[in-house]
Amino acid sequence: MKLESAKNEIVVLTGIPGSGKTTLAMRSFSKYNRINLDALKSRNKEKLEICASLGNSRSIIIDNTNMTRQARKRYIEIAKSHGTRIRSIYLNCPLEMALKRNAGRTGRERVPDHVVRFYNRILQVPTIDEGFDSVEVLGGAKEIEEGPGRMGTHKRRKIEEQKSMDCFLSSHQCRS
Ligand SMILES: Nc1ncnc2c1ncn2[C@@H]1O[C@H](COP(=O)(O)OP(=O)(O)O)[C@@H](O)[C@H]1O
Ligand SMILES: [Mg+2]
Repeated sequence: MKLESAKNEIVVLTGIPGSGKTTLAMRSFSKYNRINLDALKSRNKEKLEICASLGNSRSIIIDNTNMTRQARKRYIEIAKSHGTRIRSIYLNCPLEMALKRNAGRTGRERVPDHVVRFYNRILQVPTIDEGFDSVEVLGGAKEIEEGPGRMGTHKRRKIEEQKSMDCFLSSHQCRS
């Protein structure tokens, strides 16, 4: 499944550490400018990078956890001020799976389990009313388990707020 759009846009990923954000960004959005706050180290540099990219008509993918509405708000504001489409992709990865994947990472890539749990706890599922032009959910446990090589076959679903909430309730809240 092709996830890249021919039109200029900002894609905001939401997902706990280990949910597969960076893998998805690199595999399915290879033409996009991948923006990661940890790498850029400051909000100021992040904003400059985003604006420079939009000025060059290059699409952007925001590769942070972006778990809360507050965290996502700044990207929505930048997109609106540039008249650029903004799209949310939520990686619906069960906590246990993210913990397992995280345990398989080494060095700085690996984050403490309590950090993964913390992000899972504060999750606010992205919704259209925040200002996104679309909200999509990737994965259910089975799809995600198929592995990064199968990432392209993930279903892409446009959802509305209630559906998003149903999904959240069935896959997250009941587990933790
Ligand atoms: N769909 C997938 N299925 C299985 N493993 C995956 C998948 N996507 C990513 N991984 C693996 O899980 C780990 C975390 O992925 P990563 O993309 O770094 O997550 P994040 O950026 O959300 O922390 C990596 O070792 C990666 O290879
Ligand atoms: Mg990452």
